[in-house]
Amino acid sequence: MQTITRLEMLRNAVGVLRTNGKTLALVPTMGALHEGHLTLVREARRRADHVCVSIFVNPTQFAPNEDLDAYPRQMAEDTAMLEAEEVSLLWAPAVTEMYPGGFATSITVAGISDNFCGASRPGHFDGVASVVCKLFNQVQPDIACFGEKDWQQLAVIRRMARDLDLTLPKPEAIAGIPTVREADGLAMSSRNRYLSPADRQNAASLPQAMQVAIARITTGADVAATLAALESSLLGSGFNSVDYAGLADADSLAPLDSLGTRPARLLVAARIGGTRLIDNMPVIAARGMS
Ligand code: PAF
Repeated sequence: MQTITRLEMLRNAVGVLRTNGKTLALVPTMGALHEGHLTLVREARRRADHVCVSIFVNPTQFAPNEDLDAYPRQMAEDTAMLEAEEVSLLWAPAVTEMYPGGFATSITVAGISDNFCGASRPGHFDGVASVVCKLFNQVQPDIACFGEKDWQQLAVIRRMARDLDLTLPKPEAIAGIPTVREADGLAMSSRNRYLSPADRQNAASLPQAMQVAIARITTGADVAATLAALESSLLGSGFNSVDYAGLADADSLAPLDSLGTRPARLLVAARIGGTRLIDNMPVIAARGMS
């Protein structure tokens, strides 16, 4: 595996990998890799001849009050994990390489970015869309793999790729890979390591409470009442606060107050012991319901 930190060297290395029509998949990450990321890497390897992983803790997607400085950084461990997965290229630019002096451009994907994480983290999706567009232009991959755990992020990136007529990757080559979960159902996340042992135990009540809510909604229970009960259940099982618990159209992320015929998603963000956890799951209407 080649580790590259300068853009001009990245271009050369990508050119070499691409000789003889070989395909390239990109897995964008912020490092602090775990099994969820490695699943993305394995899926990327299945779909392309070569895999490039980017590690860049992107400052523009963190608000001033968020955990940018504390965000876990473990380059040596990450590098070893990616070597073991036979990744061809690790793209790890410094902040000054990604955002040289005078940098002034930002992408806003309106509407789809407005609710849920967009409302509780203003500016977050502008930072994500802008850096992912740059990563796509820098690496020019045939395909890109993202975790479905960040469902709204994936929807924002797909919308951005369609709206800006991106070709590498094509919008349809932006793959969403299902969330990898711990044995008790907690979605894997780099932020899980912040949890104390007691909070880690209580955190499993998030996916459990979501499954209860989904069972209720799909059998016709009132959505607003079910979401309120979900919030109370989280507050009763060790969570300090709930940023949002909402039902949304799976593609447009438009909030829904009832289940229709289109695919829907339950999305939750909640805080436990100072750590913000997010999760989402599909909600499919039971047969016979409208
Ligand atoms: O999901 C992440 O790790 C980040 O938001 C991403 C897509 C790498 C952009 O910085």
